[in-house]
Amino acid sequence: MEENMNITICDNYDEMSIETAKFIINYLKNRQNPLVCFAAGDTPVSTYKCLVESARRGLVEFKGIKFVGLDEWVGMSEKDEGSCRNFLNKTLFEPLFINRSNIIFFDACSEDLEGECRKVDDYIRQNGPIDLMLIGIGVNGHIGLNEPGTPFDSCSHVVELTSLTKRVAQKYFNEKKELDKGITLGMKHVMEANCVILIASGTKKARIIKEAVEGNITNDIPASLLQLHKNCYLFLDKEAASMLNKN
Ligand code: PGA
Repeated sequence: MEENMNITICDNYDEMSIETAKFIINYLKNRQNPLVCFAAGDTPVSTYKCLVESARRGLVEFKGIKFVGLDEWVGMSEKDEGSCRNFLNKTLFEPLFINRSNIIFFDACSEDLEGECRKVDDYIRQNGPIDLMLIGIGVNGHIGLNEPGTPFDSCSHVVELTSLTKRVAQKYFNEKKELDKGITLGMKHVMEANCVILIASGTKKARIIKEAVEGNITNDIPASLLQLHKNCYLFLDKEAASMLNKN
């Protein structure tokens, strides 16, 4: 089922991060004022370090780029340690000196979360599609916070988090957090993006990578929809790829 997916298997996490950063740098070279969406999470940390280092060395330029946020925990702002925006500010936006006016993000503290969804959807409709997306995958197959069962034609929406996501997400915070809902771009945005890169590392991701890549396309595993994406690249380390048939 995975003919459409371009899969690169790297020896380890560091190599996966370097290869992903190289791909991004190369992709962005030929783009005029692209709209990009880079995920928060543990997996892209080293990729972002490589991008920041490459920008310092003049190998890539982020000035004309507009960034759209993928997702956020409802009730959290950029001031909250561990929120998606806080993470991206620290790892990417601030080290790259990205002008705040070039960043569009859900305000997950808003009293009008539906309005926030419309704000981001409208922005993408007018300035999109998203040119390049870098995403991770949850152990339940979620992309962004598109949890299992999310309709494939969804735009931005507010989501009840699964108990697994709530539990796994504790790793982002210094103290226990009561997580309840998320706000996220939809699968429609992912599928309409010109290019999607999915990265995954470690044995904990091996089973879901196998299901997403070689299993049925089903909204029980949102990442499986990527089998139908026209321009999708997976960068995996050996461990994340260890259950794939071809490995
Ligand atoms: P991770 O998150 O990179 O921290 O594993 C991935 C995800 O849940 O999408």
